[in-house]
Amino acid sequence: EPSVPRASRQRFVQEFSQCLFDFVIQLLPTTEELAVKEDVRKLLERLIRTIEPDSRLLSFGSTANGFSLRNSDMDLCCLIDSDERLAASDLVTMLGDLLERETKFHVKPLPHARIPIVKLSLDPSPGLPLGIACDIGFENRLALENTRLLYCYAMIDPTRVRTMVLFLKVWCKRRKINSPYKGTLSSYGYVLLVIYFLVHVKNPPVLPNLQQMPPLRPISPEDTHIGSYNTWFFDDIDLLRTRWASANTESVGQLLIDFFKYFARDFLYNTGVASIRAGLIKKESKGWQNDLDPVRYKDSRERNRFCIEDPFEADFNVARCVTKDGLYLLRGEFMRASRILSTRPERAIVAIAQLCE
Ligand code: GTP
Ligand code: MG
Repeated sequence: EPSVPRASRQRFVQEFSQCLFDFVIQLLPTTEELAVKEDVRKLLERLIRTIEPDSRLLSFGSTANGFSLRNSDMDLCCLIDSDERLAASDLVTMLGDLLERETKFHVKPLPHARIPIVKLSLDPSPGLPLGIACDIGFENRLALENTRLLYCYAMIDPTRVRTMVLFLKVWCKRRKINSPYKGTLSSYGYVLLVIYFLVHVKNPPVLPNLQQMPPLRPISPEDTHIGSYNTWFFDDIDLLRTRWASANTESVGQLLIDFFKYFARDFLYNTGVASIRAGLIKKESKGWQNDLDPVRYKDSRERNRFCIEDPFEADFNVARCVTKDGLYLLRGEFMRASRILSTRPERAIVAIAQLCE
């Protein structure tokens, strides 16, 4: 902003960064909450083993990727380490019955969903004032791997990456643009946008590209693929934290301001795909363009308004649920946030309150 004196602008950004940390810290889950969730996971694992003795129940999503807010739901994935196993839909039905009999959870088995899951919830109680919501899925190894990838990105620069992601998660919930069912974007989509921005838009980058780094030792394809998807990435974070230092020293406040500006003004929504593996690529190169013949491709036109490539499932658009109206809302919100931050109020704390109004 040319009209704003530089020193005062810098003071604002500094104060804004500090306020972002303080704001996000209050929203982290408590240790009690984490302990209760771990107890729930163990209990459920014990019960599932009465049906499938060789199974493990693992956390994925925000409880495992380092981007969890207070009272976020639990995503659990059941892996079965034997060759003879029940079909997922049968397991869902049996597990639903068992949990109904043996626990206090409200249970909703969805055996015929595209991805069969059991949905569970627990009513609020004194120890758990907001209850618990939990989904159990089966054999979703890709989700476990993308959770690990996000976790590694979070650990490379925990302060900046986590503060940004957690703030955006609160912001998009408060602004009501975090509902794939209503045409806006999932939390997972927002996290990918932040990583994409920090790896590919920021120059110098804040994060390295973990999927493009040379491996330390040769690896065979069996160790790097799940089905046809290449899930390899550089995951030796201890080594990375000693060897890799970003040349980018911008504050989290500055990064967030630039993030909003980029998605308000610069991102090429019509032709571009945000890919954390490959940077900004063309919709055309993936067959995701939305100006195809409207009769034959009615669905794909609607599906590919906004394109975010999944890090492993390269043929999968994580933002496929974003509709024309949803994208309009989303861009409007990026512009609104950008405007608030450029006409910045007196105090940073007021800016944060306005952003999340
Ligand atoms: P909150 O539940 O809002 O705290 O966020 P979250 O980090 O748990 O994200 P979300 O519930 O959107 O997704 C949970 C996990 O499911 C992600 O970390 C992914 O592993 C997986 N997932 C969600 N959506 C997709 C998707 O569209 N494609 C793929 N491949 N995985 C997804
Ligand atoms: Mg979740």
